[in-house]
Amino acid sequence: MRIDLYTAIHKTQRFHLFRLAQQLGRADASRPESWPPLCREVKVWLDLLEAHAQHEHDFIHPLFERCSDCATHLDAEHEALGRAMDELKQTLAAGHLDLLYARFVAFLGVYLVHIAKEEQLQASVLWTHCSDTELGDVFMRFRQSRSPDEARRDLQLMLPALSIDELTRIYSGIRQLAPSSAWEASLVMARRTLTSSEAQQLEARLAQHGSGES
Ligand SMILES: [Fe+2]
Repeated sequence: MRIDLYTAIHKTQRFHLFRLAQQLGRADASRPESWPPLCREVKVWLDLLEAHAQHEHDFIHPLFERCSDCATHLDAEHEALGRAMDELKQTLAAGHLDLLYARFVAFLGVYLVHIAKEEQLQASVLWTHCSDTELGDVFMRFRQSRSPDEARRDLQLMLPALSIDELTRIYSGIRQLAPSSAWEASLVMARRTLTSSEAQQLEARLAQHGSGES
């Protein structure tokens, strides 16, 4: 299995953006008190997506630049998406909540195509021209750039979005590299976020990994 720089974070984004689209679709105009928390979360996610695009530019695009013109193309898409997100923020700021659902899902459609293209380019370009050592180095440099609070939030967002297989790989990395206090806190987070059955599956898989059976 190749080192994958995109799938986990993109699956996480899809999970939460779909959830937000559903919440916006069900938001009740006659209950104005329900809107502020939802609007705040939309704003938080727009900020997270902007930061994510910057991370891709800083950490992944230099790999593309070595072997293709993909980085130029992806940077242009990021700029267009940035303009669309600015428009969504203006919709929020102006209180045009009646327009928010339609504009959000229109943006979501374009965003989904963009991240699918990135994953296709990883397979066709990066996995052809870059070694796992190079990809792993990029991943480690990104990981080291995250503060403890950012790393905690990243994990909290990923937990409900990923498969037990994917979480096992992520948790194995945490166990290997993080301080023991962060490892213990990560396990508590999993037990609080997953169903008890899922948390048991995860811990059983980690026990197998720890004993070298997988
Ligand atoms: Fe992107």
